[in-house]
Amino acid sequence: MTDADIGLIGLGVMGANLALNIADKGHTVAVYNRTPEKTDSFMQQAGSLADRFVPCRSLPDLVAAIRPPRPIIMMVKAGEAVDEQIDALKPLVAADDILIDAGNANFHDTRRRVDALGTAGPRFLGVGVSGGAEGARNGPSIMIGGTRESYARVEPILSAIAARYEDDPCSAYLGSDGAGHFVKTIHNGIEYANMQMIAEIFGLLRNGYGRSPKDIGHIFDRWNGGMLKSYLIEITGKVLAADDPDTGQPVVDIILDRAGQKGTGRWTAIEAQALGVPATTIEAAVSARALSALKQERVAAAEIYDARHFDGLGDYGVETVKALEKALHAATIIAYAQGFAALSAASDENGWDLPYRDIARIWRAGCIIRSAFLDVIMRAYEDASTPSNLLVAPAVVETLTEAAPALRTVVAGAVAAGMPVPALGAALGYFETYRSARTTAYLLQAQRDYFGEHGFERTDRPGDFHGPWGPG
Ligand code: 6PG
Repeated sequence: MTDADIGLIGLGVMGANLALNIADKGHTVAVYNRTPEKTDSFMQQAGSLADRFVPCRSLPDLVAAIRPPRPIIMMVKAGEAVDEQIDALKPLVAADDILIDAGNANFHDTRRRVDALGTAGPRFLGVGVSGGAEGARNGPSIMIGGTRESYARVEPILSAIAARYEDDPCSAYLGSDGAGHFVKTIHNGIEYANMQMIAEIFGLLRNGYGRSPKDIGHIFDRWNGGMLKSYLIEITGKVLAADDPDTGQPVVDIILDRAGQKGTGRWTAIEAQALGVPATTIEAAVSARALSALKQERVAAAEIYDARHFDGLGDYGVETVKALEKALHAATIIAYAQGFAALSAASDENGWDLPYRDIARIWRAGCIIRSAFLDVIMRAYEDASTPSNLLVAPAVVETLTEAAPALRTVVAGAVAAGMPVPALGAALGYFETYRSARTTAYLLQAQRDYFGEHGFERTDRPGDFHGPWGPG
């Protein structure tokens, strides 16, 4: 049988939902999972869509079930599993078949895989898919890297299953080889920063102003109708409204404060550092998760430093909530700006010519960092003269000028009270430094020259100079 439109390998939560989404759009999908029981249970749950699936027991069966030239989506664990999957498929597929890695791959791996497959084929697309299980089922944001020719062949299916923002599919071709997976990595880095900032603002309301999770949930619900409108704000409101069925307590009160991470946020920080791009909010968010993992150490340190209990943040009122809203808005914008700056540097480094407007466009729906402000960013990039750092784009300048004072107030209050705000603080530190015409880096240069005779440039004439201190 050779009539399926597309194949899909890996029926975990994301793969199964993506397969259902594709079938929903009228396509026939050949599905395969290494553990056949998973294929069986998937078929049992496929309901009225079951006719659109061809369940396959082996990879040769899967390949035989797809109409050539075959597109095959791989939704398997990032890393070695992808290499193993490619190795297993290679002898079975034709040169013009397209393997589509839709997992969260490290873009260096994607580049290596593209190089290894070379011109002999099969073809390869590295595709970032965002939106979690719900997005995969009903419309994710899809970031595609590879050749334009391969993209053109799968574009109708990918556009059909993507999320819609006012009818516009949130799916785009972004560049060659690892471009799609790199953009997805940066997406996740921004996701880490946004989540951490939200958690810090929650912490101020909860621990500094003593508000209940339910109260704070209502605040987030209200914020979701304003400048902060976004998926992460929306779900935070819902999370805070939920009670634990066993204890009746707010769910957030019974969740252990140890955050997991699969690694994409860390990749963003590493790549940004490698590119010389300061992505301080993302670094702070990754470090905050690492600190969260040190539960026992933190408990011990809390005993040691217990003497310095913070006294709370003082009076609470409408103005407080407004300041927190604006502070979070400012910090979130700074995180986006850092993410886009990393995209810009990587685009230059890898010759991708990334379409920033399209990236903002396809992040407006379906993905985890979707927010009203991405529409503003998209419009900013419609102007070809938009600089690589969004902080100086006119629309952003206007918003930040209005919101930055609140970020200062909120961070200052938290710091004075001894409350941790690492990502908000990183956003503010970046902003204050970025808008400084003269930083104190001259002192670093003097120190470097003092101990290492590294030399420095002068402000008043060109050349390489040394200070009057002699050998260090
Ligand atoms: C998305 C998410 C998705 C996943 C992350 C979680 O865009 O749909 O980012 O990719 O939820 O991998 O990452 P951590 O486990 O590192 O938090």
